[in-house]
This record gives sequence, C-alpha cells and structure tokens, in this order.
Amino acid sequence: MKMKKYTILFAVILAAQFNAIGQDIVKKGFSIAEKQTMLMLNEVAQAKTAGKAGISPRSLSAQGDLVLVASKDWCSGFFPGELWYLYAYTHKPIWLKQAQAFTTPVEQEKTNGATHDMGFKVYCSVGNAWKLTHEAHDKDVILEASKMLSTRFNPKVGCIKSWDNREWKFPVIIDNMMNLELLFEATKLSGDSSYYKIAVSHANTTMKNHFRADYSSYHVVSYDPETGAVLKRVTHQGYADESAWARGQSWALYGFTMCYRETHNKAYLEQAENVARFILNNTNLPKDLVPYWDYNAPGIPNEPRDVSAAAVMASALYELCTYSVNGSFFRTKADRILKSLTEGYAAGPGTNRGFILLHSIGTKLTNTEVDKPLSYADYYYLEALLRKNNLMNNKPVLTIIP
Ligand code: GLY
Repeated sequence: MKMKKYTILFAVILAAQFNAIGQDIVKKGFSIAEKQTMLMLNEVAQAKTAGKAGISPRSLSAQGDLVLVASKDWCSGFFPGELWYLYAYTHKPIWLKQAQAFTTPVEQEKTNGATHDMGFKVYCSVGNAWKLTHEAHDKDVILEASKMLSTRFNPKVGCIKSWDNREWKFPVIIDNMMNLELLFEATKLSGDSSYYKIAVSHANTTMKNHFRADYSSYHVVSYDPETGAVLKRVTHQGYADESAWARGQSWALYGFTMCYRETHNKAYLEQAENVARFILNNTNLPKDLVPYWDYNAPGIPNEPRDVSAAAVMASALYELCTYSVNGSFFRTKADRILKSLTEGYAAGPGTNRGFILLHSIGTKLTNTEVDKPLSYADYYYLEALLRKNNLMNNKPVLTIIP
C-alpha cells in the first residue's frame, strides 16, 4: 500500500517536472516568436516603402533580402497564420489587428482554380481567422475556396490535381494531403457532403498509390486522367524517385493524422502511425530529430537539415499522440523536436530579418532556399507550441480560442 502511494507520488512529481520543462519551452518559444515577428513587421514595412511588391514574407534571398510573395504563391497564408497563432496564445490586440491586415489580401485566392494549394493559402490564414473570430465573412471565403478547389477533382483518378503546366498530365503530390482540411471544414460549415467525399476519395487514393512497403512516400504520382491508371512515381523536390524527401514524409504524417480526426477511419490512424514509425525509426534521423532534407540524401551526415520538416512533424505528432495507443512515445518525440528547434535552431534576437527559425530547405536540387528561414517552418512551429500548451493544460489539442 505504502509502495503504491510512493509510486503515485513519484509519477505526479515526474509529470509536474515534465510540464514545467514544457512550460519553459512554450514560453521561450512564444517569447522569441513575438520579438522576431515584431521585427518582421518592421522589415515588411521597410520593404514596402522601398517599393517591393508582395503581401507575405516567405524566405530570404541568396543575398539575405526579404522575399515577399503575392497572394497566389503557395506560401502567402503562412505569415497571416502565424499572426493568428500569436493572438491565440497572447490575446494581445496588436496580433489580432496585424492578423486581420495580413489575411485580407490572401482572401482573393478563393477564386484561383489554377492551383491545389488552396488549403495552405486560405485555411492557414482565413481558416484560423474563422476559428478565432467567427466572422460570417470568413465562413463564406472558406466555402467559396472549397468550391473552387473541388473543381480540380477528377473522379476517374479519385484525386485533386496538384499542378498544371508540368511534364505530367495529372500529377498528385503528397503535399496535397494538407489541402483536405479545408474541404472537411467546408462540409461542417455547409452541410454539403460533397467536399467530405472528395477529401476521403483523395486520401484513399493517396494511401493506395503514394506509399512504399516501408510507409515512406513518393513525392509525385502521375496519373492518366482518362483511366485513373498510375503512370509514374517520381520526385520533384527529393533526392531521387525512390528516396524519401523529408518534408514529404511530414506532410503525409500530418495529412493522415488530420484525416483520422475528421473521419474516425482507423485505416488513416494506422497509416499515420506507420509513417511516424518510418520517420522516427529511420537510422538517418539525427539524434535531435531534425531531419536531413531527404532521408536518403547521399552525403549524410554532411547534408543540410530541413527545419520545416521537423516543425510539421512536431505539430502532427502532438495530434497523433492523442489518438494513438502509442501516444506517450509520439508525445515524447514531439517534445524532443520542440526542444531542439527552440534551443538549437531559433534565430538570435534581432537577426534572421524577423523569421523565427533558421536552417530550412525549399528545394535542394535547384539550390532554391537552401539553409534559409521559411514561413511555413515558423507557422508549424507556432502550431506545435500551441498544441503542446494545450496538452499541458489538459485542453483538447487543437484548441486555439483565446
Ligand atoms: N508544397 C511545397 C513544398 O513543400 O515545398
């Protein structure tokens, strides 16, 4: 009896210590993020005064200048999303005001049917606005955007087409899993199940055709749009067609975790768990759990890391840990990533032109954005911090209402 009491006491002390460490990381992360984002606002204002076009910061150029992108760029929604996340954590009116100001110019993307990136653009910006403020206008934007994204669905293939004007007739990239969240939301908001059905069809087809036996994912699957047959499995941003591009694995992990949340289909949960195991048991994953840009990059350990892949992974693992019977394993790994990012990859105060994290990679093979900050690394890092904070405070992991 006495023994049992001590065991419980020990567990309580351990949990308290664990949460105290977590609390420190969350506080430290948001403190860095607030200061850096203040600097970023200044950088954006200066760039605009100097006549630079664009609405959202995406990265730094080779010369170290701020890269601002137009709303049509797949990254336009991330910085507004970061501002929403800062508001969610701090409740400060300044972040609300800035979030609204940076979100408005992205809204016009709702009518842009030329891309599959609708979720990245509209859901990370307007979607978060909707969750935090419940403005009817945001709901309308989400619905219009979903309607437009649905026009890219081909029932023969069972997927949403990713890119136009490339060498493939009907390419689908693993990243596209991330755009399904917008469609699930649209069905909840409208009662129209067609969005849900498209999302489920896309997820099922991707689960069938995008994965290898070890649960690593191909980047691009090229389909015949007339018959739905798979023509080719290749890469666009990874090291090789048969390699495992790091960010692609993180998109897969996040996408299938989210699909399980929205459908309760156990097959998606198992898929997410298997992808997580592929990543976390990979012998090429460094000890700090910040992956090299490709798990099969030829020069490992002398290859650059991709912090963006780690940030997406951390956020996804925090959600997965709440569904999986192996939750504590996944949560420990997410904690490790968050600690690594906060203590080893965050920019020094006043540096990095206001981006929060260092050392991400856009596309290594074309030498684009190599070892640079990226807005999506910062966005998913803040999301992971929020999720960690919720878990520590025994709130549902996805809570973002201030
Ligand atoms: N969705 C494009 C990328 O991950 O680089």
